[in-house]
Amino acid sequence: MSDEWIVACDFASVAANDVVRCDVADATYAVIKLSDGRCSVIDGLCTHGKAHLAEGFVDGTTIECPKHNGRFDALTGEPVASPVRVATTVYETRVNVDKIEFRKN
Ligand code: FES
Repeated sequence: MSDEWIVACDFASVAANDVVRCDVADATYAVIKLSDGRCSVIDGLCTHGKAHLAEGFVDGTTIECPKHNGRFDALTGEPVASPVRVATTVYETRVNVDKIEFRKN
């Protein structure tokens, strides 16, 4: 665990209602931007079958997995549609000037 903020990507590189993949060291994350500009960084692999969530899509405040269409709440990580049953990790996320940053504390 670290208190350091990690740059995920440029704020402008993620469209509203979209998600992009971010790889840092040996971990992968999904960086989500909601329609109102709020951003969320979550674990990149689905808790159900390890699909890359960045290949899914954002619908309202949820992100849908591309593999079996399970859904997570993008802000809390809670599962909201089956077959997902285990929450994903949501990291503390901020927009710092023009960067989306997160930390793992
Ligand atoms: S791998 Fe994501 S819902 Fe099955």
